[in-house]
Amino acid sequence: MTETAFIHRFEPATSAGSPPLLLLHGTGGDENDLLGLGEMISPGSALLSPRGRVLEHGMPRFFRRLAEGVFDEDDVRRRARELGDFVVEARQRYGLAAPVAVGFSNGANIAAALLLLRPEALSGAILLRAMVPLSDPPNPALGGKPVLLLSGQADPIVPASNSARLAALLSDAGARVDHKVLPSGHQLSQADVTLARDWIGSVEAEAA
Ligand code: MLT
Repeated sequence: MTETAFIHRFEPATSAGSPPLLLLHGTGGDENDLLGLGEMISPGSALLSPRGRVLEHGMPRFFRRLAEGVFDEDDVRRRARELGDFVVEARQRYGLAAPVAVGFSNGANIAAALLLLRPEALSGAILLRAMVPLSDPPNPALGGKPVLLLSGQADPIVPASNSARLAALLSDAGARVDHKVLPSGHQLSQADVTLARDWIGSVEAEAA
């Protein structure tokens, strides 16, 4: 792999026909964090799980921020390009179809940036507690890509207006967005797992 390589874990598929998942952890997580979630929501899928390359006080992230919820947008663009290149290389190396991103928090934000900046990198996305990643996003053609956006009603980091704006932005770009607001905060709950699993199942059934 080239210098765009990310430290990552890869688990091969154990059942044909399940979409590969690109697992993107939250701030302070790593490539191991979401493997269990990936197995729960889509048993049998190949799992590709990179570690964010930006360090904030030693905590891995996928892009720099100036403060909580205030992003260094030049870095968002640069890092989304790097991650898009990594996905292309990993697909060649491991023989994968375009993955569905499953991102939590900072990982969901870089997944949203990938959709906006490198839409061909993903076949769809599950965005858990995501925010609008760019104040002046391009208008990509998302051509019906399925996106599940799960927000927390009492999320202290993501205001309801922000996740609603992200849903509108992605729908306007042509994604098929399913946005649900759960009675939770920023952390994930069992409802996230159940909804994500059902959603993946319906996406798989459509593709079959
Ligand atoms: C971010 O920086 O991406 C968001 O504030 C979420 C977080 O990582 O806390």
